Amino acid sequence: MKRHLRILGPLLLLFLSGQPKGYAEESCGLRHFGGDSYVCVCNSTFCDELPIITPVRAGIYLAFQSTLNGHRFAVSEGSFTSWEGEKAGKESADEVDVTYTVGPAAGQQLILGFGGALTDAAAINILSLSQANQRSLLSSYFSPSGLEYNMMRIPMAGCDFSTHIYSYDEVEGDFELQHFNLTSEDLNMKIPLIHRIQRMTKTPLKILASPWSAPGWMKTNKAMSGGGKLIGQAGDRYHKSWAQYFVKFVQHYQVHNISIWGLTAQNEPIDGFIPLFPFQSMGFSPTSQRDFISTDLGPALSNAGLRKVKLIIMDDQRFLLPKWADTVLADNATSRYVDGIGVHWYFNYITPASVLSKTRQRHPDKFLLSTEACEGSMPWQTKVVLGDWSRAEAYATDIMENLLNGVGGWIDWNLALDTQGGPNWASNFVDSPIIVNAKADEFYKQPMFYALGHFSKFISAGSYMVQGESVLTPHVMTILTLGLASHPAKSLLICTAERPDKGLALVVLNKSSTTLHLRIVDGRRVRGSFVAQIAPRSISSFIWW
Ligand SMILES: *[C@@H]1O[C@H](CO)[C@@H](O)[C@H](O)[C@H]1NC(C)=O
Ligand SMILES: *[C@@H]1O[C@H](CO)[C@@H](O)[C@H](O)[C@H]1NC(C)=O
Ligand SMILES: *[C@@H]1O[C@H](CO)[C@@H](O)[C@H](O)[C@H]1NC(C)=O
Ligand SMILES: *[C@@H]1O[C@H](CO)[C@@H](O)[C@H](O)[C@H]1NC(C)=O
Ligand SMILES: *[C@@H]1O[C@H](CO)[C@@H](O)[C@H](O)[C@H]1NC(C)=O
Repeated sequence: MKRHLRILGPLLLLFLSGQPKGYAEESCGLRHFGGDSYVCVCNSTFCDELPIITPVRAGIYLAFQSTLNGHRFAVSEGSFTSWEGEKAGKESADEVDVTYTVGPAAGQQLILGFGGALTDAAAINILSLSQANQRSLLSSYFSPSGLEYNMMRIPMAGCDFSTHIYSYDEVEGDFELQHFNLTSEDLNMKIPLIHRIQRMTKTPLKILASPWSAPGWMKTNKAMSGGGKLIGQAGDRYHKSWAQYFVKFVQHYQVHNISIWGLTAQNEPIDGFIPLFPFQSMGFSPTSQRDFISTDLGPALSNAGLRKVKLIIMDDQRFLLPKWADTVLADNATSRYVDGIGVHWYFNYITPASVLSKTRQRHPDKFLLSTEACEGSMPWQTKVVLGDWSRAEAYATDIMENLLNGVGGWIDWNLALDTQGGPNWASNFVDSPIIVNAKADEFYKQPMFYALGHFSKFISAGSYMVQGESVLTPHVMTILTLGLASHPAKSLLICTAERPDKGLALVVLNKSSTTLHLRIVDGRRVRGSFVAQIAPRSISSFIWW
């Protein structure tokens, strides 16, 4: 409670004085790692909290900005002025670089939400902290004074971010799954953590589960790791048994009062076709996934009374679209079981985001969901980089491009990793928005953490994306036309959503190195407009009601 006051105090002062002023520097435990690298440090006695967003009166907007040079959710507020008044008044058009008008047209995609993955590695790291620090970490992601995540992805049994390879049924030939059982990873780590998280979220947590591999005895390569696929064909006992494994998984979590919101049919199904794939995988092609769903998985879930569990296809890289979705969904017997299409972000640099909106246009009754993303995964990348702002920009760019192209939510990979980027039994270390240093009983909120918050806290579940239009002002047009420079105004990315509480939330990403003046016009409610200074290398969220 005291912490809220510390944050709301300056906010109240702002309302009185009208002076935009940052608060984050004194409240986030900033630690400098040289250059422009900053993290916010949490320990057993201190952890920064983000403002609880509550509606303000009409005509006022709130702004939150994070920057390369260490601002984290620096808050300011201001007033709309009437558009006509501004035109006539002191703010001449050439002090503004870009005018962005929130369109009157509503009805873009519904937002399912934002979240991260509770892998075994994430659970191990969270539980390696002191009790007070565990609470701070979970609250940082899930509570109203944190990122307000409402989604979570969990692997069905292990993945590479586990300490060893395991499944829920290691008894060879047990097609009836009589020996199916959750493991200590579920019972002692993930399930207790989920119970704690469920007590923190404002809205019910949407849990998405994905299998990396069937037990080795069901597979052509007799092992969970390495390339391989299910033995046989759709409709046979291997496929029936594998479908029943999903049902058992959902039922076993239900015993612990945890409802599974959604299932992906297979994590990264094309990995299973790579011969010496370094960790758990299982191959499906679009046609074998189509047949498995229509013949086995769809009917198994339906017969078990689990038709309401969202079934998501693909769960793999963007470059497979739209063909993967077209192939699976062309078949009505399959399509009727399918709710959505999952996409991962790896290799996005070879495929433009427009393939997402193209896919959505072709399958308007299915949602698109970004189901996995992380930094540091490529062989040439450093795994954990403390305080790297460019990784925050990579996250924000990807989220923005997804939201602008019909995707309804974005789920990060590991919620927390150690300072090496693990544990990972296959040494496939990567970065995470929260890095845990168990020895010091500290954790570090990376710039990526705040980048996610600029979306997850504002574009809440149940929001609809709203179209907007950017217009470069005449002096910028002149600069561009004369070819004098490539004006940074061209590099702005902006998206807007209308929230269930009727607030309008607008996120602006500036990857350029100069300050820009952005006029934001609310074309939906005739509120008028305001001019915001967009700092160099910044991510900003604006909200008003
Ligand atoms: C936690 O961090 C705060 C702020 O940086 C510091 O004042 C405090 O001494 C730290 N507590 C511990 C137990 O390290
Ligand atoms: C599953 O695990 C629980 C808890 O360890 C144990 O009591 C139960 O007997 C196991 N069931 C099966 C079918 O192995
Ligand atoms: C599940 O919820 C019910 C009703 O709220 C409660 O009685 C039961 O103890 C819970 N079970 C577990 C395993 O938490
Ligand atoms: C599939 O369903 C669509 C829409 O309901 C229908 O127009 C089409 O004829 C169906 N195709 C087949 C092959 O049944
Ligand atoms: C975004 O950041 C870049 C690089 O720092 C800068 O050149 C550009 O002006 C900025 N653009 C906006 C719209 O803020």
